Amino acid sequence: MTDDSALRREMVDVCRRMNSSGINQGNAGNLSVRSSDGFLITPSSLPYETMTPEDIVEMGFDGTYVGRRPSSEWRFHRDILRERQEIEVVLHCHSLYATTLACHHKTIPSFHYMTGVAGGTTIRCAGYATFGTQALSDNALVALKDRLACLLGQHGQISLGKTMEAALWLANEVETLSRMYVQALSLGEPPVLSDEEMARVIEQMRKMSYGQAPDPEGTNDLARPRDAAV
Ligand code: 13P
Repeated sequence: MTDDSALRREMVDVCRRMNSSGINQGNAGNLSVRSSDGFLITPSSLPYETMTPEDIVEMGFDGTYVGRRPSSEWRFHRDILRERQEIEVVLHCHSLYATTLACHHKTIPSFHYMTGVAGGTTIRCAGYATFGTQALSDNALVALKDRLACLLGQHGQISLGKTMEAALWLANEVETLSRMYVQALSLGEPPVLSDEEMARVIEQMRKMSYGQAPDPEGTNDLARPRDAAV
């Protein structure tokens, strides 16, 4: 059996940082990470302050589990990890501004270039469905098509990553963008960047390994480490 203790410890740490960074609170939120033969997921309704690595639940893609009762949202974690082979981590939280927009079923448009960190010109809002249901998972997968994040109608947000660090970073970015958008809306609907400009932004992010678009071959052609060979 593979030793997953390091992954479990990191999950506890990331969950606590979800709360301390202000993007989650109370019993909300959940986190999953792909493992050798399925995925690890946070247990349901256990406050992160008291959660230990041993409380993390091991699940298979067939829905069977070992340990405590898994997060009520195991279906969307399972379905995302099954459908999106490039993704290793699924993070869900009820951050305030993202949820504020989700309560109005608003999609985040390209009002700010950073919308591109989720991989496209918008961050969509998934249609509402009861928490813990297959319908919610189905809606989330549609909203996440070609994206690394989405809002969940009258619920919260989901951010994806290749690493826990990247998923946590993205969830904070989605929350910051949501806050900016809510504030921008107070002056009226803001103008948006064109699809052509957003394509340039996304390419620039890729080239510069900006945020969650790491490309080991990518370089910023104006900057290089001082001791690099010329
Ligand atoms: P769990 O504690 O079951 O993971 O539920 C929290 C939540 O955010 C439901 O959407």
